Amino acid sequence: MMEQERGVGDALRAIMNRRSVRDFTESEVDSETLELLLRAGMAAPTARNTQPWSFIVVTEHGLLEGLAEGLPYGKMLGKARAAITVCALPEEANGQSSELAVVDATCATENILIAAHALGLGAVWVAAYPYSDRMAHVRSMMQIPDTVIPLCVIPLGHPTVVKPPIDKFKPEKIHRERW
Ligand SMILES: Cc1cc2nc3c(=O)[nH]c(=O)nc-3n(C[C@H](O)[C@H](O)[C@H](O)COP(=O)(O)O)c2cc1C
Repeated sequence: MMEQERGVGDALRAIMNRRSVRDFTESEVDSETLELLLRAGMAAPTARNTQPWSFIVVTEHGLLEGLAEGLPYGKMLGKARAAITVCALPEEANGQSSELAVVDATCATENILIAAHALGLGAVWVAAYPYSDRMAHVRSMMQIPDTVIPLCVIPLGHPTVVKPPIDKFKPEKIHRERW
């Protein structure tokens, strides 16, 4: 109730209930929804507000299948209606740091995953980084320059089932004042 009063109920619900979704119906993901997801991604915090990222939107079925072929844990891309590849751009990051570019692009990715859930879509982080073979595959499928790090591919679609939330809260992970 207090959450509702503070107006954060929806945001917290989306954060707490988000799950990785790996099976999708044949229903399309419309372009307005894709734009909203990209806006959510670009709303993320970045070191010194550098926003060192780029996003590649893919809806072509052949390309989604091609991506799936070279990503051992990304076979669900073949069933996705769309995907967003999140790229980290070290050249645009604070201090041209590839570490910071990856951290910043990770923030964007999490925003997209939460926003997808909030919009009733299913999504999952499919890793490219830090595996050189997977990054090479994603680079070659989408003509991504070598200076750009393909962080992950996010398959998107309407979920076939709604997964229950998992409670991952572990008090033993929390330290007070000192380790
Ligand atoms: C860095 C990272 C890499 C991941 N890579 C994959 C992947 O390649 N394929 C996949 O199906 N899920 C991948 N996941 C999703 C995790 O498996 C998932 O988040 C975890 O099992 C917890 O489940 P939940 O997202 O439903 O809470 C990845 C998640 C992260 C954060």
